[in-house]
Amino acid sequence: MKVFQDKNELIRLVGRLKENNNSIGFVPTMGALHDGHLSLIKEGFHKNTHVVVSIFVNPTQFDNAEDLKKYPRTLERDVTLLKTVSKDKIIVYAPTVDDIYGDDVASEHFKFSGLEHEMEGRFRKGHFDGVGTIVKRLFEIIKPDFAYFGEKDFQQLQIVKKLVENYDIPVKVIGCKIHRENDGLAMSSRNERLKPEYRKAAPFIYKTLKAAKTKFGSKSATKVTKWVEDEFAKHNLLELEYFIIADEKTLKPIKRKSKTKSYRAFIAAYADDIRLIDNIALK
Ligand code: PAJ
Repeated sequence: MKVFQDKNELIRLVGRLKENNNSIGFVPTMGALHDGHLSLIKEGFHKNTHVVVSIFVNPTQFDNAEDLKKYPRTLERDVTLLKTVSKDKIIVYAPTVDDIYGDDVASEHFKFSGLEHEMEGRFRKGHFDGVGTIVKRLFEIIKPDFAYFGEKDFQQLQIVKKLVENYDIPVKVIGCKIHRENDGLAMSSRNERLKPEYRKAAPFIYKTLKAAKTKFGSKSATKVTKWVEDEFAKHNLLELEYFIIADEKTLKPIKRKSKTKSYRAFIAAYADDIRLIDNIALK
């Protein structure tokens, strides 16, 4: 499996593949790959002959220097894992910061019709400018036919769809289901940093989301939100940052339930110093 560090080499290879009528799927990641990432890559092979996987811990999307420093970097292990999916049809792009940013490691500024101001945008300043910057650059380099993003980061998925619309980028963005551990915890590269007692406690997040979904069938969003906040207040290991029930399209917090709209519940919580996020569709 060839691992490209240099974008020009990668551009040449992808160009040749496209000339020969191959279709290119793209899965951007920050590495420390797990089955959640692999599920996106497998989805990619349904519609494409080749899948490009980028592995790049993007500095501009971190609002916390410590989090950036501690983010796991496990390229060798990642490549081994990718080989279990395909030995010759996955193309890895693992650039250096310099290959992407040159000497200007900074974000562009984006407007995503207000999506960027909600939830993660409120609690992680500048995060979506960083995500927009890297995803736009990667799309320009790779020029994929399809790109795959997880619903695990539902707000990111909606923002990438808006980015593609705003800049008329010729790629189809596909959202993929959340992949979970057996105990319900959403898979995340951050999970491996959880101390055992916190790892044991973390499935509480999804359990609470599922209970909130059931309650939302008969109770108001305000009542459900209060219930979730109380549950977390009683928990001695997990600290809730936010619980929000929002319209799936606008991501604005729900005001009054409407039968014609789709809603989703979103959680961000700290397990020790590790920030975990999860969400559930409230159909
Ligand atoms: P990362 O957190 O590595 O995630 C890469 C992709 O995998 C994202 O689309 C994310 O939603 C998806 N993913 C992660 N965990 C998942 C799970 N449990 N189930 C399904 N999909 C999952 O998201 C990023 O990287 C970065 O912001 C990136 C888009 C690469 C830009 O730097």
